[in-house]
Amino acid sequence: MQAETSRRNFLRSVGVAGGAGVLYSTMGAMGLAPVPTATAAPYRAPSESDFNLAGRHGRKKVVILGAGVAGLAAAYELGKAGYDCRILEAKDRSGGRNWTARGGTSETDLDGRTQRARFSDGQYMNCGPGRLPQSHVTLDYCRELGVPLEAFVNANADAYIYHENVPALGGKPMRWRTAKADVYGHISELLAKATDQGALDAALTKDDKDRLIAFLQSFGAIKGKADGFKYTGGSRRGYTVEPGAAHEKGTVLGNVPSVSDVLASGVGQRFAFEFGYDQAMMMFQPVGGMDAIPKALERAVGRHRITYGAWATGVANVPGGVEVSWKDGRGREQVERADFCVVATPPQIAARLRHNLGDAVTSALKTPVPISVGKIGLEYRRRWWELDDHMYGGVVPTDLDLATLWFPSYGYQGRRGTVIGYYNFGAAADAYGKLTPEERTKRAVDQGAKVFGDRYRTELDASFSVAWHRTPGIEGGWVGWPNQDGPEYKLLNQPQGNVYFAGDWLSYVIAWQHGAFTSARKVVTEIHQRVMAA
Ligand code: ALA
Repeated sequence: MQAETSRRNFLRSVGVAGGAGVLYSTMGAMGLAPVPTATAAPYRAPSESDFNLAGRHGRKKVVILGAGVAGLAAAYELGKAGYDCRILEAKDRSGGRNWTARGGTSETDLDGRTQRARFSDGQYMNCGPGRLPQSHVTLDYCRELGVPLEAFVNANADAYIYHENVPALGGKPMRWRTAKADVYGHISELLAKATDQGALDAALTKDDKDRLIAFLQSFGAIKGKADGFKYTGGSRRGYTVEPGAAHEKGTVLGNVPSVSDVLASGVGQRFAFEFGYDQAMMMFQPVGGMDAIPKALERAVGRHRITYGAWATGVANVPGGVEVSWKDGRGREQVERADFCVVATPPQIAARLRHNLGDAVTSALKTPVPISVGKIGLEYRRRWWELDDHMYGGVVPTDLDLATLWFPSYGYQGRRGTVIGYYNFGAAADAYGKLTPEERTKRAVDQGAKVFGDRYRTELDASFSVAWHRTPGIEGGWVGWPNQDGPEYKLLNQPQGNVYFAGDWLSYVIAWQHGAFTSARKVVTEIHQRVMAA
């Protein structure tokens, strides 16, 4: 007891003397608290002064294939040191998968289906990335480039979980708060009883048991020992009548399900989502649409450096540098010479380039497996989720082929709102991707109406869908490597002569812009070091 007190006093004195930072690192050293030091690999941007200091001339020319986040970031970082960059982009826009659809956005897929979004002014959907965790360098780029951020609601106690085929839920959506109250409550009751009855005596001391039970009482809101540690519900589940003025005490949501029903519902298996390192709140999004990031990069790089409608067809190491061939918007073959080339397209696109880098490169590019991913944006005339459900943003997981639905983290209490009606992968994304845009909307709305009722159909005004695996120049939501320790991943992370590869697919942060940014930084560093050492 005394040792414990003096330890606490010691910590307090360090805290008082040195501030919270010292307190935490001291606690870390004593094995009490993790020291929060997670940062991206150290990075120093190349700069013009590097050349001046070395008495050299920079101005090396770099051709970059793809104006997605990796390509733009490579040009932006190289540009800081005065490299002469040119980006060839197949599409008529920058951003790659960082793509925001607004009214007028048009796209023709690989099946020849053209969609034109009819979203109202101010309404948009992020077709690709939609959320940014606090640890990602993407946030640092937003700061550097002046892209304003706002909160993205990835976890919302008032959002729902929907499991269609679970009799225990009666096919009804359940609020996250209710699901958590019931799962935590019942599990706490079971564990408290087991602990109290001695089932864990081999693992726990008397003090451990008391402390565990104290924890469970707070965690699960269960009764005390005299009442058998019972979980009987409570206000954490929510109310059917809100507490209010005078004598309105409120009516707590009743019908607490049995432990069997709670386990059968499977809702507890949804909770780990928000424990994920990169899915935990707080999360952020750029104000006005995710494409504010590529737009800002594009401005910083200089639009004149990007050629749109330029389909790269080949890349070759030639004496003194590289030669890139491409087709312009009119189908004419063009050739561009440079000192270096950065291939910043998805691997499945790069695999089709004519090149002289060897067969191992082609087969390595074909190794990662593109994943089918789909999203639909549904614009509603009325923000019924706020008006009727008091749900402001959030993600609704389902066991339907919709996978998750996202409610907008912008435009709160406005007139209209745009919901992501599905964000699915694999077989579900393939199934929706095969349909016409109209059929996708119908299927998505029929499915969503199971969760939200008729308003899901009647209030709908416009929709726009993307099947990334059927999107020209991209052909996948992201990729999965069978093995990132394998020779293919290693090979493509090394320069092939004067040709470098960059993208989220060459990182351990696949399907995040952070992966694209850090991969671009790595390649930029390698090129710059090589130029400086030459
Ligand atoms: N980064 C992607 C997401 O958050 C995979 O859903």
